[in-house]
Amino acid sequence: MARSPSLTTLALLHFLSWLTLSTANLIQKRDPVLPSGWSYSGCYVDNANGRILINQQPDDAQLTVEKCVGACKTAGYTVAGMEYSTQCFCGNAIINGGSLASADTQCSMNCGGNAAEKCGAGNRMSIYNTGTLVKYPVPTNQNTNLPGKWVYKGCISEGPNSRIWQYQTILTNTNSATECLSRCSSFGFMAGGMEYGTECYCGDVVDIQNNGGLPKPDSDCATTCPGDPRYYCGGGSRLSYYAWSLTDPLYKWSYPTGNNAGNYKLFVPGVVVPLITTLGVNGKVTFVEKYGTGAANSTGAYELDPSKANTFSAAWRTMRGLKTDVFCSAGLTLPDKVGRQINIGGWSGTSLFGIRTYWPDGSPGTTSVNDWQEDAANVKLQQGRWYPSAVQMSNGSILVMGGEQCSNCAAVPNMELLPQVGPVVNLDFLQRTDPYNLYPFLTILPGGGIFVGYYNEARILDPVTFNTVRTLPQIPGNVNNPLAGRTYPLEGTAMIMPQKAPYSDPLTMLICGGSTIGPSTVNDNCVSIQPENTASTWTIERMPSQRVMPCIAALPDGTYLIVNGAKKGVAGFGLAESPNLNAVLYDPSKPVNQRMSIMANTTVARLYHSEAITMQDGRVLVSGSDPQDGKNPEEYRVEVFEPPYALSGLPKPAFTITNKDWSYGQQVTITVTAGSTTGMRASLLGAVSSTHGNSMGQRTIFPAFSCAGNTCTVTAPPNNKICPPGWFQLFILAGPTPSISTWVRIGGDPARIGNWPPSAAFTKPGI
Ligand SMILES: *[C@@H]1O[C@H](CO)[C@@H](O)[C@H](O)[C@H]1NC(C)=O
Ligand SMILES: *[C@@H]1O[C@H](CO)[C@@H](O)[C@H](O)[C@H]1NC(C)=O
Ligand SMILES: *[C@@H]1O[C@H](CO)[C@@H](O)[C@H](O)[C@H]1NC(C)=O
Repeated sequence: MARSPSLTTLALLHFLSWLTLSTANLIQKRDPVLPSGWSYSGCYVDNANGRILINQQPDDAQLTVEKCVGACKTAGYTVAGMEYSTQCFCGNAIINGGSLASADTQCSMNCGGNAAEKCGAGNRMSIYNTGTLVKYPVPTNQNTNLPGKWVYKGCISEGPNSRIWQYQTILTNTNSATECLSRCSSFGFMAGGMEYGTECYCGDVVDIQNNGGLPKPDSDCATTCPGDPRYYCGGGSRLSYYAWSLTDPLYKWSYPTGNNAGNYKLFVPGVVVPLITTLGVNGKVTFVEKYGTGAANSTGAYELDPSKANTFSAAWRTMRGLKTDVFCSAGLTLPDKVGRQINIGGWSGTSLFGIRTYWPDGSPGTTSVNDWQEDAANVKLQQGRWYPSAVQMSNGSILVMGGEQCSNCAAVPNMELLPQVGPVVNLDFLQRTDPYNLYPFLTILPGGGIFVGYYNEARILDPVTFNTVRTLPQIPGNVNNPLAGRTYPLEGTAMIMPQKAPYSDPLTMLICGGSTIGPSTVNDNCVSIQPENTASTWTIERMPSQRVMPCIAALPDGTYLIVNGAKKGVAGFGLAESPNLNAVLYDPSKPVNQRMSIMANTTVARLYHSEAITMQDGRVLVSGSDPQDGKNPEEYRVEVFEPPYALSGLPKPAFTITNKDWSYGQQVTITVTAGSTTGMRASLLGAVSSTHGNSMGQRTIFPAFSCAGNTCTVTAPPNNKICPPGWFQLFILAGPTPSISTWVRIGGDPARIGNWPPSAAFTKPGI
């Protein structure tokens, strides 16, 4: 039997509802206490075409107007909205066509934390804001006012098994077609799109098919762009897809075939995994090895006679004399009259201070006997340096920069000179960017300044005070991470672009590859700048593939061969994966973004500790790989890359020369003994030591050259800034085909290195 409420109960209920009503009426008269400038703008309809504010805060059962406004203000927003009593949304505008409800009373729900305040209702938002309330209509797909040559292509699905595009950037507040696609195209990507509002992707059109992306109705791409609420930025697993106009592509790579693609071939089996290789002025190549890499009885130093590559036993000479460990040292060919090689730094203990020289004797086909010389107790650096770089200065001194004292320990953020002058010079920029600046890229500029490229920065130092005279713009990284770096351990590779008589063009520096700190994305671009041109900024040119730890070799025809390295990881032992087996030829005589040719592929993985140097016959000696990763071999095999000119079958020009010791500006006569002198050119390639993406000593010069009959005149470069003193390979070129080179010295030995170092342990050639 049901019981009816007693009279007493009814009276009590009546009293309570009266009390509630009158209390509410009483409290409603109190307005929320808002930050200065904030006020109530009305009750808005939410979700008619998507959320009308972009950023939802966590639900709060105790929500008040003050709390929501405070949270949005703190997060930097100008609009706050409360819905359904406990929900709080922030934004900078009403988006998705949100409009006022027909009656303010539709925001009828009390705030969870204050029954005296209204916090929207179902699909109704109480809107508070500061400044002018901006309202955007229902978004559309952006197909006008796009940056560059981007065109809207439609809404597509992600691939069933993987994302269509690997390069993802989350742009939480700024994502839009304009923002995302500008980013893609600045790094050379011709396809891209936005997904789920905040995600920006860059890639290539071909990836859509490769990864199974399919066309979907535009209505699937209905998430508003946070950076531009007038437009849609994809949806869940849906991309608003855009492509760059094919009639005006961002880059054109060449795909030569047959001999035009060049060729890798095994040159000679090796005896060591080299740390650094140097082509000597005797025409032979020294290989030095770090302790403990190879055989227990290794002397750590060997010399390859390329003319005997077909006979393994005759090709290699065991060298002796290294007393300390060359592990991550620098190398140069000195400007003394015999072109001694110097090896600088190393690891650990005494090795860190190492100064070692070799006087290259003999010639291809004839015996060499000299060994390395070292006197670790008496001839040493001022500071121990693991991973330093060295460069020949204009005045003949050798500048040695950077390094660290050991793995993951103190930087050596300074530089010193050899022969020793004064104390070390502190360089605060190396301290600040430690440990991402090892093996910095050093170049003497035609104006006399010293270019230093390190981590993702570059600057010019005064050659006398070593103070910074100009900080260059920051080096752009990659599309994923603009902060990606270029020097060890984020190791890319650098080159001086050709300098041509009359040397009026500013010098260009090129840096290719590199990687990022942390979860690494490897760079797939080369960047270049004219450091001395104050208006110059970095030009980004996309590479056909990603490369960390690449090597680059300057070729006698003014092109550059990019080889070696990996597509994932960073430099170091066991830190990289996916060897990059493709050779890329970079031709700076072509227009920007049309300079790369995809050449032949090798089968040999060359990761950490690999090298590339151009030999006297114009082929590139490719060596090394010391990955210590248990996956890829410790690599002893030495290959050559034969550029197209070595395969064309065209006859090589040839010349004879008597004067091989040039002063600046001197006119030197050569006799051309083979090849047409019509259109003939000469080139000079600086003597190079190759290690860790550095080609220390590299410089490519096309000197003034003229012929009368078969007597030709080469004019030496004019001064020690355009061409610091040193040894160069002189080539002549008939059309595309280089001669065999002859070694010449330019600029003498102004620092009297020939009488150095001061120790009887070193044989000195004199001045
Ligand atoms: C090291 O030992 C191997 C094998 O016994 C031998 O072939 C090689 O000549 C030795 N190398 C040196 C530098 O003694
Ligand atoms: C080269 O220049 C540096 C910087 O001024 C100076 O310290 C050094 O002594 C110079 N070298 C020679 C050989 O004059
Ligand atoms: C080398 O491999 C790439 C793919 O990685 C290919 O596109 C290219 O055609 C190959 N080169 C040659 C000469 O076959």
